[in-house]
Amino acid sequence: MEQLVAAIDIGTTKVCTLIAEAPGEGSVLRIIGVGEKDARGMRKGVVVNVSEAAEAIAASVEEAVRISGVPVDAAYVSVSGTHITSLNSRGVAAIARPDRGVSQEDIDRALQGARAIAIPHNQEVIQAMPRGYSIDGHDGITDPLGMHGHRLEVEAHVITASESAVQNLRDCVLAAKVEPLGPVPDPIAAAKAVLRQSEQEAGVILVDIGGGTTKIAVFADGCALHTSIIAVGGVNITNDICFGLKAPFEVAEQIKIAHGHAIPDKVRPDETVDVTAFGDEMPQLASRRFLAEIIQARVEEIFALVLKEIKHSGYDILLSAGAVLCGGTAQLPGIKEVAREVLQMPVRIGIPTDLEGLTDRIVDPAHATSVGLLRWGLGDMTVPPTEEGKWSDRIKRWFTNILPS
Ligand SMILES: Nc1ncnc2c1ncn2[C@@H]1O[C@H](COP(=O)(O)OP(=O)(O)OP(=O)(O)O)[C@@H](O)[C@H]1O
Ligand SMILES: [Mg+2]
Repeated sequence: MEQLVAAIDIGTTKVCTLIAEAPGEGSVLRIIGVGEKDARGMRKGVVVNVSEAAEAIAASVEEAVRISGVPVDAAYVSVSGTHITSLNSRGVAAIARPDRGVSQEDIDRALQGARAIAIPHNQEVIQAMPRGYSIDGHDGITDPLGMHGHRLEVEAHVITASESAVQNLRDCVLAAKVEPLGPVPDPIAAAKAVLRQSEQEAGVILVDIGGGTTKIAVFADGCALHTSIIAVGGVNITNDICFGLKAPFEVAEQIKIAHGHAIPDKVRPDETVDVTAFGDEMPQLASRRFLAEIIQARVEEIFALVLKEIKHSGYDILLSAGAVLCGGTAQLPGIKEVAREVLQMPVRIGIPTDLEGLTDRIVDPAHATSVGLLRWGLGDMTVPPTEEGKWSDRIKRWFTNILPS
């Protein structure tokens, strides 16, 4: 049966609401509503002004609703920001009825155990994703339901976030008259849209370079192992261009998108770009190669930070499928080559696939998170819709799966 699902990606530079229909998580998604607006009240993935952010969210939701003709009561929302941390933890549960095998309640209790970790004040667990189970010491079990034994153990990837940052995000979405669902860590959502199953099995790193942040998620053996967020992104590149070419931010942004390149050698030395700002009396020209040098320096720095982060995590040796880049900044010409050089691994650009309907604006790396949120949502919507079913009745509510820490 077709399900309806909505998602809001609240980024540093843009808010994107998508509404889709699909029979299930892994199937083709039919996009029936798209609403994209410039973000406001956001800094480095975090809400800094609730009323401004809420206005931008409401405008984006309104547009998607108008286009689709479908009202949105609830939507899956991603959470971002450097406050997000991750760790891997174990939980144990006694199998309540060994004669009947492992029940869903046993699995839930084991997962609750994995979530019960010591975390700093003001942090909370936002997701605990099972990586594998063992029963009476036999590991490698992926689906323990119904299996016999006495002791169930789960290995889980646990992601925590700042309570106040999550609360502010929730308030913004509620102010836009939408019930927020999730929250889904931004890179985990993006991974759902652009990573292939074979890459997740072999070992891969997702690198989502957005406007204010760079998000990382490491996968191996089909599961997430490490998630983290770095406070640098495309806005830093634009700021460098402002400084280097003495241009206002808007002009620098336009020049970056129209003429930017991450490899100076790929640009002819005599090429120029117009940096004339509105109100300038004389036309101002700058060398395009110089522009590329500015961009290259920052892009190299971003990948050096990514490399440091994965080395620090200890999972750098597992990445045989290399890196997949997404986020708006992944559209920069030459970025793949710079990533390959710095990370010393195969690199490809990730674009959301298996979409139909209103796809022209969203089949690009900048929409990995919003499309991935839809896929996450479909996987989460376990209860079938009723005839007149309201979304909020049939999908898990924000935080229902969060235990006090
Ligand atoms: N063709 C392009 N070349 C270079 N940069 C681009 C291009 N298109 C978009 N960008 C940059 O991508 C960034 C926006 O990316 P994205 O939409 O993924 O960010 P976001 O989701 O709003 O922010 P974040 O994920 O960091 O919170 C901007 O800095 C923008 O300048
Ligand atoms: Mg983003």
